[in-house]
Amino acid sequence: MNSSADLIFPADYQGAALASEDGSVGRRGLVTSLLEEMLESGPRPRAVYGAGPERMLLAVQELVTRFEVPFQLSFERYMKCGFGLCGQCALDGSGVQVCTEGPVLERQDLEGVTDLGQPHRTASGRRPATSQKT
Ligand code: FES
Repeated sequence: MNSSADLIFPADYQGAALASEDGSVGRRGLVTSLLEEMLESGPRPRAVYGAGPERMLLAVQELVTRFEVPFQLSFERYMKCGFGLCGQCALDGSGVQVCTEGPVLERQDLEGVTDLGQPHRTASGRRPATSQKT
C-alpha cells in the first residue's frame, strides 16, 4: 500500500506485519521486501495469500516459488463475457481464464504464464504496444 489511507479496517490488522511505501503504517517500503525478510528469517509459513497490483503479485510469486511456499494469488483482469467465451481475461502462455478458473490462482495454474505484470488487454482485446512480445 502507498500509505495508511489505503488500509481499510485498520483495527483488523493488529499484530500483523505491515508495510507502506511512505512509512505511515508499518514498515517503510514494499511489502515484497517485508515478505522476503519474513521468508528468510522463518518460520516457514503454511501458505502465502496475495491480492493487489499484478506486478506485486509477480514479485510475490517469484519469492514464494524460491522459498517453496504454497500460495494463492487473486488476479484482476479486464473481463467482457465473464463466463469463458471471449478470452479477454486469458493469461498468455497458459490460456487460463481468470473469469472462470480464477480469480484466485495457485502455482499449477500459473505454470507457463508469460504475461504476468504486463499491461492488460484493452477493451478491443489488444495489448498496449509496450507489452507485445516478438
Ligand atoms: S471475460 Fe470472457 S473469457 Fe473471461
